[in-house]
Amino acid sequence: MRIPFIAGNWKMYKTVHEAVEFVKELRPAVKDITDVEIVLAPAFTAVHALADAARNTKIGVAAQNLHWEREGAFTGEVSPAMVREAGAEYVIVGHSERRRLFGETDAIVNRKALAAIDARLTPIVCIGETLEEREREETFAVLDRQIKDGLDRLTAEQTAELVVAYEPVWAIGTGRTATAAQAGEAHAHIRKRLRQWFGGDAADHCHIIYGGSVKPDNIRDLIAEADVDGALVGGASLEVRSFTEIVTRSRAAV
Ligand code: 13P
Repeated sequence: MRIPFIAGNWKMYKTVHEAVEFVKELRPAVKDITDVEIVLAPAFTAVHALADAARNTKIGVAAQNLHWEREGAFTGEVSPAMVREAGAEYVIVGHSERRRLFGETDAIVNRKALAAIDARLTPIVCIGETLEEREREETFAVLDRQIKDGLDRLTAEQTAELVVAYEPVWAIGTGRTATAAQAGEAHAHIRKRLRQWFGGDAADHCHIIYGGSVKPDNIRDLIAEADVDGALVGGASLEVRSFTEIVTRSRAAV
């Protein structure tokens, strides 16, 4: 049984102070919700303070990135163990903004996912096609490549614990959500491939969440799809009220 997984990706928003204030407000709002996994992904600078503020609550913490090496001369980078020590349990890997703006390839995504697992972090691996790829009817081929190369060398047990985020690039920050049917179709395809390549247990256990203009008014339809197990929320996770609504409605739909 997969309980809904709702994560807020704050991207490059919120100072340490703003992050802590957010958690103080969110805590009472979600204190009785035990049947949704709630995760917040602040900027690196706020991971430690946010993890402190979320201690003894059900709110989990994710970093938005990491480097794959354990340590070394990599100015500006943060290692998996550093992320873990700062209090994160999850880490977003391969977000389309990192692929597009910072040159992350599937091979890099793979190294990061493996390094995260090695440091006892759960990777939230993002995949998804661009608008041009969708229009050329390459969506499934793109997803296949991103899964095959991005999850290369993961064991079935590791894949079972993974979170895969399907984020069609054309739906991110555009207000243009994939329809529930489009999301459902892509998620079913991803689950089918996970079953084929990693086995039934991995496919059944792995959370596949949707990202791209998720709002309180569309979460119900999205999560009603059999293979949509939650959401990775950008803009609507920046306000306590809309984030809480998304958490609450994800639960009512199950
Ligand atoms: P928006 O919800 O702002 O479209 O962002 C989605 C996203 O990129 C989450 O990782």
